[in-house]
Amino acid sequence: MSLAVRFDDIRKDFGPVRVLHGVSFELAPGRIYGLLGENGAGKSTLMKILAGYEHASSGEVLVDGAPQHFDGSRAAEAAGIVLIHQEFNLAEHLTIAQNMYLGHEKRRGLLLDDAAMRADAKRYLAQVGLSKHPDTKVRDLIVAEKQMVEIAKALSRRARLLIMDEPTASLTPSETERLFALMARLKADGVTIIYISHKLDEVERITDEVIVMRDGRFVARSETAALARQQMANLMVGRELSDMFPDKAPVAADAPVALRVEDLSVPDWVDTLSFEVRAGEVFGFAGLVGAGRTEAFEAIIGLRKRSAGRIEIAGRRADLKSPRDAMRRGLTYLSEDRKGKGLHVSMSLQDNLTLMTLERYAHPLLDLKAGRAALTEAVREFGIRTGDLNSRARMLSGGNQQKLALAKFLQPNPDVIVLDEPTRGVDIGAKRDIYFLIHRLASEGRAVIVISSELIELIGLCHRVAVMRTGKLQATLGLDHLTEEELIAHATGTH
Ligand SMILES: Nc1ncnc2c1ncn2[C@@H]1O[C@H](COP(=O)(O)OP(=O)(O)OP(=O)(O)O)[C@@H](O)[C@H]1O
Ligand SMILES: [Mg+2]
Repeated sequence: MSLAVRFDDIRKDFGPVRVLHGVSFELAPGRIYGLLGENGAGKSTLMKILAGYEHASSGEVLVDGAPQHFDGSRAAEAAGIVLIHQEFNLAEHLTIAQNMYLGHEKRRGLLLDDAAMRADAKRYLAQVGLSKHPDTKVRDLIVAEKQMVEIAKALSRRARLLIMDEPTASLTPSETERLFALMARLKADGVTIIYISHKLDEVERITDEVIVMRDGRFVARSETAALARQQMANLMVGRELSDMFPDKAPVAADAPVALRVEDLSVPDWVDTLSFEVRAGEVFGFAGLVGAGRTEAFEAIIGLRKRSAGRIEIAGRRADLKSPRDAMRRGLTYLSEDRKGKGLHVSMSLQDNLTLMTLERYAHPLLDLKAGRAALTEAVREFGIRTGDLNSRARMLSGGNQQKLALAKFLQPNPDVIVLDEPTRGVDIGAKRDIYFLIHRLASEGRAVIVISSELIELIGLCHRVAVMRTGKLQATLGLDHLTEEELIAHATGTH
């Protein structure tokens, strides 16, 4: 049942750019490994090679001692190696069951055995705890649900080695718990698991051993129990990381209100929400999934219908019709769903970056030189790792796509910036950079609103945090009250 793997001097080039520089290490069967490394370190690429999605340029993968050259992911799956992708790999227009059995259809004679596939799908969905009918179209699912479908699909492949590339990035704490229980069961059954995550607390909890990569190379391995979290972080970035959060500059007493929202209601989601954020303030939104935070902001920028509400930007009424309209009025909203709404992954980095500026300022001519300068600046400022400035956004590693999306939404120079889960999927060094950037933006007189599921992040960053539960504002906590206990109590209604 169990399966051992050895990477032997794996190199990988994308055109002229080498991203893996001779990686060698081995994995014993039946353990849970954490694979750590900064954005762009090569984690996903190495795992895609193991799972048959990419070929190594040189070097060898040995499975149970035998060299393997998988011709595609189906061959790897046949050998028991299954990868759950960081960027989902689901066909949006197909149903859950169709996605799970795509290319692995069950048949009865010549016909597709839909009933059997549906029944099986149901069973795996129950295992991951997703209560959706197998006939639901994937495009009707929210991000966390898509993640659960990916996991259910992997289970249905009967993996002996399961690779999870940031599986909890969009899961709630209770979904994460369920996933961890599932992982423990799989491990008990002898499945080897490779777990990639930037959430070091999770890595600490669930893995037996960690392997650290940096700049396309193997740098260290250790039993998880022997490694403090800070050591993991330092190994990843190759230097000592000092304080994660900048000092909070006080908000001037006479700072003007940058955004005022009064009695906003969104059918099914938000019930008479009012708040105001001042220039120079970092204002957080806490709450469980479904609390209505994202939906409130989607309504504010005109992506969702609101049944009531008055919105003012810099003291002037703003009935925003669309994200573009919002941007022209000086407010940008970076969606949590980067791939769907944040980036055009098939476009170049530069076009992604300059698109919003063009829309805001409506320059008649596209100034290529200025665009290139903006890109060079963004790459430097946000630490975007790319071998090639001319590549398309989809060629960036997951975390670097996030950084590009952030850079893109700041290009039009907004006065009010709304960031929905701004550090999801970014490595610990980049996270720190983003925290410092947020404070710089605020100290320049902008209002920054941060929606986050990471309480530590909200506490470390924000001057005030609004807590929502089932569409209603429960409390707005100032500096003196920003503790995990208070936030959780209001978010869960146990206050
Ligand atoms: N198809 C591709 N074409 C060109 N370059 C690529 C391609 N896929 C990945 N790369 C590059 O390879 C490098 C490693 O990327 P990879 O996705 O493996 O990083 P990662 O460690 O998974 O990072 P993250 O934590 O951000 O997910 C990056 O610089 C990336 O831009
Ligand atoms: Mg990756």
